[in-house]
Amino acid sequence: MTGGCPLEGEVRVSGAKNAALPIMCAALLTVKPLVLTNVPGLADVSTAARLLGQMGVAVERSDDGLMTLRAAQITSRVAPYELVKTMRASVLVLGPLLARFGEASVSLPGGCAIGARPVDQHIKGLQAMGATIVIEHGYMNARAERLRGARVVMDLVTVTGTENLMMAATLAEGSTVLENAAREPEVVDLANCLIAMGARIEGAGTDVIRIEGVGSLAGAAHRVMPDRIESGTLLAAAAAAGGKIRLIGALPETLDATLTKLREAGATIVAGKDTIEIEMSRRPAAVSVRTAPYPGFATDMQAQFMALATVASGTATITETIFENRMMHALEMRRLGADITIQGTTAVVRGVEKLQGAKVMATDLRASAGLVVAGLVAQGETLVDRIYHLDRGYEALEKKLGALGARIRRVK
Ligand code: UD1
Repeated sequence: MTGGCPLEGEVRVSGAKNAALPIMCAALLTVKPLVLTNVPGLADVSTAARLLGQMGVAVERSDDGLMTLRAAQITSRVAPYELVKTMRASVLVLGPLLARFGEASVSLPGGCAIGARPVDQHIKGLQAMGATIVIEHGYMNARAERLRGARVVMDLVTVTGTENLMMAATLAEGSTVLENAAREPEVVDLANCLIAMGARIEGAGTDVIRIEGVGSLAGAAHRVMPDRIESGTLLAAAAAAGGKIRLIGALPETLDATLTKLREAGATIVAGKDTIEIEMSRRPAAVSVRTAPYPGFATDMQAQFMALATVASGTATITETIFENRMMHALEMRRLGADITIQGTTAVVRGVEKLQGAKVMATDLRASAGLVVAGLVAQGETLVDRIYHLDRGYEALEKKLGALGARIRRVK
């Protein structure tokens, strides 16, 4: 890509990756079809479809975001290492499989580029619900006659942990209370889908979720919520590059922390019911962020805001509190001329007038988005390598940015 073009125009937001993945896994909870719309066309969605397909789930998908999943007959209850290692969210089959079939074998995810990311809270919660889980040959082998409702106090806020336990509890005997639950909008979207399937859930979106188990769940139709991270990435790109863009099909109320920070950077933002307009007509001011569980500032937006800070006037501190190793993009941004010093989990970013294009390498999904934002404001050509990371979580980002006037293309 060649930086320096302001962004102008309208762009449609895709369905949320982090809502689509758990909701697809929820199909395992019922013999009936689950019909989803607004499913994004992403590599991670394909991986999840492959994983479920291997288990015997019939998955039909069309280009317009429609997906039907039928888990009438399950032939395997195994999530193999080969798939779990490429997508950690595969662990989301554990709760549903155990709840409906009393048995599951799911590979341990191991570490990843951004940190250790253990799944101990998933395991502890399911054990509290009566499951026996043994770790053998790198797999979590779980069994339970029928899960029992339990009170689970999670040691820390975990998104997929909350989702796994919430799904498991829908078919458990009796009531479950999840305390210190994640409040992310994607947890709420999953809960809404489960409720449409007949689950009895209260409190999703707060830190205490109550689930009354039922004997079985039915099918449902559900529209996947808009992707707030894709939305935030496009807005950060416009704030860095300047110009005026309008997101359509967005969900502004899920983006409070991001919008507040963009306004602080000097952007004018007008949020409608499902639209967000951003206008940036000057050099951004430095804004500091500290990541936190929702409704705090999302760790999945950290790299994009670091990119914004590299060209801002003033000094920003970017502090990562969720993942211990999520600053790899800082080193790549330095190759573009950014002035960044890392002190533990904080990056001190002194804004420079201009970045210069260079070859850089994506290390993980959101790091690659941060590098794209940086490339859009760098003088000359920037080449981001390993964009398979980007394709995991963004639907044709280069096309969306291109339609907004960015000089960007995919090279094979
Ligand atoms: C989800 C999102 C991911 C986002 C992250 C944090 C999906 C598919 N992915 O990932 O995009 O970056 O939330 O918002 O929704 N932890 C434990 N033990 C556990 C579980 C988690 O120690 O059993 C730790 C993790 O290592 C991490 C923190 O808790 O430090 C938060 O992780 P978690 O919320 O579980 O992230 P994911 O659900 O994997």
